[in-house]
Amino acid sequence: MQAEQTSHAAAWLSPELAGDKSWIYSLDVGASIDMAAAVRSAAQSGKQLLDYRKEDFNFASAAPVIEQAFQQAKHGRGLAILRNLPRGSLSEREFELMTWGIGLHQGVARPQGKASQYISPVRDVGVDYRSAKGRGYSSNAELDYHTDRADVIVLSCYNKAESGGKSMVVSTAAAFKRFAERHPGLLEYMYRPIHFSRQGEMRSGEGPTFVHPVVTEVEGQRFVRWNRNRVMTAQEIPGVPRIEADFWHALDTFDAILHEPDIEFSMYLQPGDMQILNGNATLHARTNYMDGDDPLQKRLMFRLWLSTPDSGPVPESWAGVYGAVEAGAVRGGILGDHYDGNCRAFDQRQAQLFGMTYDAKLYG
Ligand SMILES: [Fe+2]
Repeated sequence: MQAEQTSHAAAWLSPELAGDKSWIYSLDVGASIDMAAAVRSAAQSGKQLLDYRKEDFNFASAAPVIEQAFQQAKHGRGLAILRNLPRGSLSEREFELMTWGIGLHQGVARPQGKASQYISPVRDVGVDYRSAKGRGYSSNAELDYHTDRADVIVLSCYNKAESGGKSMVVSTAAAFKRFAERHPGLLEYMYRPIHFSRQGEMRSGEGPTFVHPVVTEVEGQRFVRWNRNRVMTAQEIPGVPRIEADFWHALDTFDAILHEPDIEFSMYLQPGDMQILNGNATLHARTNYMDGDDPLQKRLMFRLWLSTPDSGPVPESWAGVYGAVEAGAVRGGILGDHYDGNCRAFDQRQAQLFGMTYDAKLYG
């Protein structure tokens, strides 16, 4: 299936989404118990993350519900919530492993940063999001609307914050449609290439930025990627062309639309919820949050980035972000400094399992 990001179902306004529960999936008690048993059994083997196979996680009666939720996120609304994961009966480590196991059934997980980690704990460790090397997932800051570097973004909630940490999602198709209707005079700016900072996470041979426009159209289909913070930090890098005031005005106008009440959909993820996003159809953001004093209660999510076998092609202009751009390719992620033979073997094995293309040239 191609270009799910422009399908009608993914072009929602937030009241429409609020009135439709078809994208919210709940495991019943039996399915939740089946999941917990599968995860505990997998945990007993004590394997390293990359050594697990999907067969190690027999989710039994939960499997069809999980599958439906992913289909909805990829080919329907662009997002899905899966509820009643067995939060209460799993340790932090087991809950992380559960998230990993779900990913093994869906595609090829991608590394996510300098440490080449394949799953990231999303928690406040005091990082400054606005700094040159800041990453939002390690801070408690309010995050600008952005797209991660993956076709599918999975976030499972172990703890919520004491206050704040609201999760926001926007349909890029709906937001850009509004922008185009209201501001035809600003449209041209959205098609101009912009530098986005890699936040210091480049590999040898890569420059400090990648460049693409906010909007790229391919054969009449519209693709949107945006990340204000990375544009701002790129502006501090020597040699990156300055963005003039009129250009910023267009970008500010787009950002303002993302926050309009009928464009922005807000939710609080609860412990035991999993949010699944189509990274090519949505933008997401988060409000700032405050943790309480108990270290065991601090806000904690586990994030997974996935390439999936049924992905559509993305524009050539995204090659700097995704590496490969063709349908069904292993792409995206941030390879980092520790992408080694184990990582390669994992990626290739998963790619083969799902009949996906793994371009070894991109992963040397
Ligand atoms: Fe994100």
